[in-house]
Amino acid sequence: MVELLDVSNLSISFTQYVQGLQQRELKVISDLSLDVNEGEVVAILGSSGSGKSLLAHAILGILPENAACSGDISFKGKVLTEEDKKEIRGKSICLIPQSVNYLDPLMKVSQQAIGKTKDEEDYKHKKSHQREVFLKYGLDESVDNMYPFELSGGMARKVLLSTALLSNPELLVADEPTPGLDDKSVEETINDIKKLAEEGKGVLLITHDIEVAIRTANRIAIFYSGYVIEINQAENFKNADTLMHPYSKALIDSLPDNGFKLTEGTQPLNDNKGCIYYKNCLLRKDICKDTKPSLHKIGDSKVRCHLYNGGLDDET
Ligand SMILES: Nc1ncnc2c1ncn2[C@@H]1O[C@H](COP(=O)(O)OP(=O)(O)OP(=O)(O)O)[C@@H](O)[C@H]1O
Ligand code: SF4
Ligand SMILES: [Mg+2]
Repeated sequence: MVELLDVSNLSISFTQYVQGLQQRELKVISDLSLDVNEGEVVAILGSSGSGKSLLAHAILGILPENAACSGDISFKGKVLTEEDKKEIRGKSICLIPQSVNYLDPLMKVSQQAIGKTKDEEDYKHKKSHQREVFLKYGLDESVDNMYPFELSGGMARKVLLSTALLSNPELLVADEPTPGLDDKSVEETINDIKKLAEEGKGVLLITHDIEVAIRTANRIAIFYSGYVIEINQAENFKNADTLMHPYSKALIDSLPDNGFKLTEGTQPLNDNKGCIYYKNCLLRKDICKDTKPSLHKIGDSKVRCHLYNGGLDDET
């Protein structure tokens, strides 16, 4: 297995002003480690506000200016500087952004998808490929000359998706590519992502939709309040018994009632000293209140919970 992306001990925080000039550090991603191999789809599953898009933006080097970021992001064995990220953005690493506002409002959508071209031959080749991909997603020829403001939300999402696929990246970071899409386009998206992996590319798929994650990914990482709390094989997410973390188990158990969708809602900020799931955990122990568990490796999987370390974990 060749490692394509390696995120190591990533933390992201913002400075918040509370009561006049008093400052407070708001940590939104904490000590996050994650890897994606060549030929692999890794899904990140987490509810709203858990830090999924910020992870995507950190990889692409497009975090907001007020974000403080530490840790390393490596691509093909090299730790990326912000300059490197700028250089490979849109080429070796592509983002399907969550927000359709990333489309250039002043450029026709086919031009955006085709990108810059060297000569007429190259343009013709790219144009015909663009038409093919647009058509597959149900975007007829009239869409080519439209500007983003003329598109519906679903059409704009399809344009973002097609644009990223046309760039043929080595690593695709897809931030919620399926919401708002019709069933056929969701199927196309799943197939295209799997096809990229079959071609040896890597995909980091960010989603709320557990069914899409299970069907598309090889491994799934569960995000909770800015922490990865479990990474496990996708097939193990079909049954709570084959998962480890109490939150992952509760999540899977609750899904039939939620139509197999992760429920919306924000998660607690991780400003407590102990386990971030402490307040909701039915299995909590004394150590969990004041001591944060680290991410333990159990076979091919990882879990952040004291139950898997004999209560001996003393990392803070
Ligand atoms: N520029 C910013 N300044 C301050 N806080 C921010 C900023 N951008 C994001 N945050 C906070 O960071 C947290 C994580 O945001 P992020 O957008 O990564 O969540 P998400 O998991 O992608 O959520 P969703 O599922 O809704 O897309 C949120 O609580 C958000 O309010
Ligand atoms: S560390 Fe403790 S509180 Fe946290 S999930 Fe595990 S058992 Fe529950
Ligand atoms: Mg997001």
